[in-house]
Amino acid sequence: MAILSPSLLAADFSHLGPSVKKIYEAGASYLHLDVMDGIFVPNISFGPCVIKAIRPCTNAVFDVHLMIDRPERYIDEFIESGADVLTIHYEATASPADVLTLIRQKGIKACIAIKPNTPIDVLDTILPLADMVLIMTVEPGFGGQKLLPETVDKIAALDARRKAFGYSFLIEADGGITMQNIHTLSAAGVDVFVAGSAVFGAQHPEAAVQNMLKAALNAKGRLNAKGCLNKSDLAE
Ligand code: DX5
Ligand code: ZN
Repeated sequence: MAILSPSLLAADFSHLGPSVKKIYEAGASYLHLDVMDGIFVPNISFGPCVIKAIRPCTNAVFDVHLMIDRPERYIDEFIESGADVLTIHYEATASPADVLTLIRQKGIKACIAIKPNTPIDVLDTILPLADMVLIMTVEPGFGGQKLLPETVDKIAALDARRKAFGYSFLIEADGGITMQNIHTLSAAGVDVFVAGSAVFGAQHPEAAVQNMLKAALNAKGRLNAKGCLNKSDLAE
């Protein structure tokens, strides 16, 4: 499976509606929404009002990445704004397991994220509570950074653990993903690829979406004989 989740952070903020519409139509079934509070990360982005405003513009799965301190304070607000998947950081709360459980109880998908220096071992008891695990491939806070190569080993180790225990969570990678490295991440076990600059910074964002999905599926040996995308591999 390969899902592309373009990060809104790299989009033109004066034209959000038309931009998100276009990339969804090109095949990006998720939209990644980076919420930053200036405390957990040294940057401030946007909150529930912006998410709510673009919700009617697309049917994409709203993949909301909360880079905020004590995210448990704002779960209801983000669900009401239209989140389908809510990601919290392991490092941002005293009780990640309770917050994941709370998110699931509210009827949406729960995802746990870890920063580059946090080992996957800390997730051992949490994995059964997660619908998705986000491995940060850059330090959170800013778009346009270079992927940290050492994070690829973490992804491969997490994928091995997923297989060994028969878990069904998706693996998402976030930060510095480009046409040049997406195949490596795909081969390591990534299912959901976040890409900000590589999509919204491209001259033709729709073509970038198609080419990145093709490269990801190619690495998994999932292109059909004509070298095209199979619909069944593009999960909703
Ligand atoms: C970083 C964010 C990322 C970022 C990705 O804190 O979580 O989602 O916007 O942007 P690129 O693809 O430009 O690294
Ligand atoms: Zn993100």
